[in-house]
Amino acid sequence: MKKIDHLACVTCSKTYGVDDVDYVCPDCGLDRGTLDVIYDYEAIRPRLTRRHLADSTEASQWRYWEILPLSRRELCPPLRIGWTPLYRADRLERELGLKCLWLKDDTGNPSASLKDRASVMAAVRAKELGKDAVAGASTGNAATSMACVSAYLGLKPYIFVPERAPKAKVAQLLVYGATVIMVRGSYDQCFGLAWEASQRWGWYSRNTAVNPFLGEGKKTAALEICEQLEWEVPDKVFCSVGDGCIFGGLHKGFVDFHRLGLIDRVPQLIGVQAAGAAPLVEAFEKGWPEIKPQQAETLADSICVGYPRDQIKALRAARHTGGGFMAVTDEEILAAQRRVARATGVFAEPAGVTAIAGVIKMKEAGDLDGAERVVALVTGHGLKDIDSALKAAQGAPIMVEPDIEDIAAKLAA
Ligand SMILES: Cc1ncc(COP(=O)(O)O)c(C=O)c1O
Ligand SMILES: [Zn+2]
Repeated sequence: MKKIDHLACVTCSKTYGVDDVDYVCPDCGLDRGTLDVIYDYEAIRPRLTRRHLADSTEASQWRYWEILPLSRRELCPPLRIGWTPLYRADRLERELGLKCLWLKDDTGNPSASLKDRASVMAAVRAKELGKDAVAGASTGNAATSMACVSAYLGLKPYIFVPERAPKAKVAQLLVYGATVIMVRGSYDQCFGLAWEASQRWGWYSRNTAVNPFLGEGKKTAALEICEQLEWEVPDKVFCSVGDGCIFGGLHKGFVDFHRLGLIDRVPQLIGVQAAGAAPLVEAFEKGWPEIKPQQAETLADSICVGYPRDQIKALRAARHTGGGFMAVTDEEILAAQRRVARATGVFAEPAGVTAIAGVIKMKEAGDLDGAERVVALVTGHGLKDIDSALKAAQGAPIMVEPDIEDIAAKLAA
């Protein structure tokens, strides 16, 4: 059955058939021509009901197959991507004075970040198109997830990462067998190079915003939240933002379920950026239609982005939901990393806890109503960046001789 009705340009609204265009609207180009995937909602509605989902035994994002843009289910790898836990953070709730706070914990995906949801879409689409190689630029996690799913599918990944990508992510890439092209430059420069290379050598591009299928994978986090909260939509969802693709994808998920009549409203979406890489915060506050590129600097490497590629969808998501953007400092991010680990057992990398740093900051500033039902996304595992984790930890092991009396003395000191 045909699922996609058409692709629509976010800037000029021109529509295209799904097989008529590879990446972006040709009229609006790479920066402004990002496409929305628009489904045949009338046809899908009777086949994707609450009942249908309650009966599903599929414990991955493929449970939403009817509203995903792929056509060949048999190509989808069995890696368990999505259907991640939604934890009630009750100790953190009490500490913060919030009635309901949930953490959507995406650290347990196969490559340990939310990006697997998107990469698998691009990888399967590449297979559907008969491609044998894929290329993408990434601050690190999109790359490792692309390498991970490519390994299963036998695709050859060419990955462009900035020199500053944390060692653990580079190690993951190399173990998965990716060709890693490490650029002496920023993520923003990697982006342009990965695109040029994909065009020159015919590799399928996984670049954010260029590839319309990525947000369709990320939206599954929103679909899961609806189901896991038994269709009681939260009031606010907080999400860390670099390029804005996760944020825009979340919005798309809630909008798709709303259009299918599965939820009665869309939550407010709050994007949280690192203070040293917060172009969307400024653009949103000032009502700019476009971002001014910034020199980005933050220890949260995954969101160290000076020119967010999915800015149009991200700004739209905040505007349409009555949400917004806010910034948190690196110190606030590290404090949140420590606090979340100690209060919930969830260990996330700096960008992975940035959303919760936003919840904490907003509540402590008195701008978050304690009665609201809040979800924060945890997007990447803490082991991905050990240097930052050690900074966050603010502690050291107690060194002892192999002697119980020495231990007793040191513990008493
Ligand atoms: C752990 C983590 N959190 C958040 C983000 C931000 O996602 P986006 O660039 O789609 O805004 C990323 C992107 O790499 C990430 O790896
Ligand atoms: Zn256009």
